[in-house]
Amino acid sequence: MNKYLNKKKIILIIGGGISAYKTLDLIRLLKKQNCQIKVVLTKAGKNFVTPLSIASLSKSKVYEDIFDSNNESEIDHISLSRWCDIILFAPITANSISKIASGKAEDLASTLILASNKQIILAPAMNVRMWLHKSTQNNINKLLDYGYLSIGPATGEMACGEYGEGKMSSPEEIYKFVLNYFSDRNIVKNKKLKALVTAGPTKEYIDPVRFITNNSSGKQGYEIAKSLAKFGVKTTLISGPSKLKKPEGVDFIKVETADEMFYQTKKILPVDIAVCAAAVTDFKPKKFESKKIKTNNLSLDFIRNIDILEFLSKNNLQRPRLVVGFAAETNNLIKFAKDKKNKKYCDWIVANNISDPEIGFDSDYNEVSIISENKIEKIEKNLKSFIANKIAKKIISNFIQ
Ligand code: CTP
Repeated sequence: MNKYLNKKKIILIIGGGISAYKTLDLIRLLKKQNCQIKVVLTKAGKNFVTPLSIASLSKSKVYEDIFDSNNESEIDHISLSRWCDIILFAPITANSISKIASGKAEDLASTLILASNKQIILAPAMNVRMWLHKSTQNNINKLLDYGYLSIGPATGEMACGEYGEGKMSSPEEIYKFVLNYFSDRNIVKNKKLKALVTAGPTKEYIDPVRFITNNSSGKQGYEIAKSLAKFGVKTTLISGPSKLKKPEGVDFIKVETADEMFYQTKKILPVDIAVCAAAVTDFKPKKFESKKIKTNNLSLDFIRNIDILEFLSKNNLQRPRLVVGFAAETNNLIKFAKDKKNKKYCDWIVANNISDPEIGFDSDYNEVSIISENKIEKIEKNLKSFIANKIAKKIISNFIQ
């Protein structure tokens, strides 16, 4: 019996698609590990598998309709969504992805998902063109942005005879994904990992009304903090001025200047993980003028701000076990980022190209390369939330091997 899966409560929604029959194997695999499974069968799914075969394997009633319960004691869709640890939708069609992405509640499956406060995992299956269609990609990205997880689709020959990306992942792969989901979180929780993330710009005051800053939105750092917290890491986000809301599940400290960010960073040490995503203003005025400077005085002297990333990396007494920096470059991306990593002694550096206006600073999208000791891993253009999840996952796997 696998200790991470034992007694886990799973709602499996079976959607329409030829691969629906494969979920019977998935039920068998999960039942072997003593998972409790309740199955919701969509109208389309019913064309491919029978409630009887599902009920005999899952040893549970099959839920089909939101209004099929005449019995008062029967579990309703809200209690059903609270009962489980995760909701797994396999296979999920382009139509159901679209329905969920637009927040519809028009059948039991979509209502359950809309009402759920649990992790939702999707296993898409459809024709390759439908999968690659911009609207499906937009919808799935939207759901990933909401924190849904997705496995597949796999590449291969499809039921329609075409070849490409669109097959549902195999029952074994989905089973492994679910197992990893529970084991990763369990291990992280037991390790009681602590992380600190810096994000956003800093503001350096010249006089009471003037300051220097930059146009960092803080989005990437906020998303990384959110992702780490979701994995069960106790995460503190130290943010410079940003319009973004405090992410859920994260301890939040708001600062204005680099000095304040540095002070708060020192205060929360020791941590296991430090991610410096802030665009700290490199310089501050040598002297803060408490009275507004008159316009005829144009001369200002600047001094460097303390480098928080470098401070953490070189901190012999309380060095986090993993220090991750960011490098925003317009040219020679990998070379300059590597130089920055060496100069600042951090373990990894996340390089992003800010010359492309579609990614970087104020955009919802990013494209990064994670440069570690002896590896460069590129994450293609995607939502910052998606990139954050990948970075967080890589960080976590560093601690749970
Ligand atoms: N950083 C920091 N404290 C500072 C300055 C930068 O922690 N005072 C961190 C950032 O959070 C980021 C990395 O250092 O992780 C970025 O390095 P930086 O030298 O600021 O990059 P640039 O300003 O782009 O440097 P350069 O102009 O030399 O390219």
